[in-house]
Amino acid sequence: MQKLVVTGGQRLRGELSLQGSKNSALPIMAAALLCGEDCTLKNCPKLTDIYAASRILNCVGCRCLFSDECVVISSENISETAIPEELMREMRSSIIFLGAMLGRTGECTVCCPGGCELGPRPIDMHLTALRKMGADIRESYGKIICRIPERAHGARISLPFPSVGATENIILCAVTADGETVINNAAREPEICDLCGFLRACGAEISGDGESRIVIRGREGLHGCEYSIMPDRIAGATYLSMTAATRGEIILKNACAAAMEPFISVLEQTGCSIYASRDKIFLRSGSRLKAVNERIRTMPHPGFPTDAQALLMAALVTADGTSIFEENIFDCRYRHTDALVKMGADIQVLGKTAVVKGVERLYGANVEATDLRGGAAMVAAALTADGKTEIGGISHIDRGYEKIEDAVRSLGGNIKRV
Ligand code: UD1
Repeated sequence: MQKLVVTGGQRLRGELSLQGSKNSALPIMAAALLCGEDCTLKNCPKLTDIYAASRILNCVGCRCLFSDECVVISSENISETAIPEELMREMRSSIIFLGAMLGRTGECTVCCPGGCELGPRPIDMHLTALRKMGADIRESYGKIICRIPERAHGARISLPFPSVGATENIILCAVTADGETVINNAAREPEICDLCGFLRACGAEISGDGESRIVIRGREGLHGCEYSIMPDRIAGATYLSMTAATRGEIILKNACAAAMEPFISVLEQTGCSIYASRDKIFLRSGSRLKAVNERIRTMPHPGFPTDAQALLMAALVTADGTSIFEENIFDCRYRHTDALVKMGADIQVLGKTAVVKGVERLYGANVEATDLRGGAAMVAAALTADGKTEIGGISHIDRGYEKIEDAVRSLGGNIKRV
């Protein structure tokens, strides 16, 4: 079992180029299925979740060729329409392949992506929408068997909640459907725009992405393209939080400052100086952070991102004063707090709310990563702690960060993988 061993006390300082976005790359890899030609994806991060997505693509008959600069996905031949349970369970967001497979072949068998470390992750909105587009969906012994007898047809879909995954699945099925699909209350996350940017480069007709109403005019076939995946805004939030927590200084390169605005505007309230240009972010945090006065409410984009909640909390546990978080997206997204408390943090969780009273210092401890962002938050907290912290369960962290230890070490952090 691998662990990360962190010895706290170093201020992070330096320049870091951000990896490509995991949450963009995954639906874009699924979208490549629709093209029937080669797609070249640049800036694709090298992560276990990305390799899990490539195993799904291989299993249905595509080829994925990884090199240092890019991944080339060839989808001329689709030979299989069932995605085995073990591949579905490797990665929760495997459900994103459903819309693309239906769009390409009219058939797909998957299983429920299963309960998740963030709480139940139902897919009811995905299935209701796909049914509206003509899919016949049956559930049998844990399998979800979907078939569209002819071609999917356009539909008018109003989502009860702007689910990122449901919006992506609808778009993926709609781009090759017959007629127009309108999604009301669509997710507005930057990764949705990135997926639509890729699909447009393949010939799709989509407008309104980034807004609540997306219109897709289906067409029969798409073609291959070369596309560069956007920078990872959550990895960006991670390294900014770590630098802020350690009172350091960083220049983030290859960053998407506009997409990170909802996070940056809250982080600024801790007293850090932050300057952003289009693709660079500079942060300096000379003294102890201040608590954030307003409630930090996680909301769909452009609200404060749920994925950055644990990361900002790791920085605020040693801030001056009390900060209050309200988690509105997932039911079980405070599982990292036990580890932070073990390290000396003062956090009270009551339902959706976490009250974080800043303490003078944290102490190194043995902790276990509970989920991807919670695990990264433990690394951030460990960097500020007195002494050594050992973090287990780091396969969670590897799902979303390209060699996190190399990135932190390049900024002067004392971290190693053992
Ligand atoms: C995506 C992101 C994840 C991020 C989340 C919210 C990827 C790979 N993952 O996850 O990192 O934290 O968006 O920004 O991009 N829901 C239902 N029924 C459904 C679908 C969703 O009830 O059919 C609920 C979920 O349980 C959750 C909420 O809606 O409480 C938001 O989920 P959703 O936006 O779909 O998140 P994901 O796409 O799973």
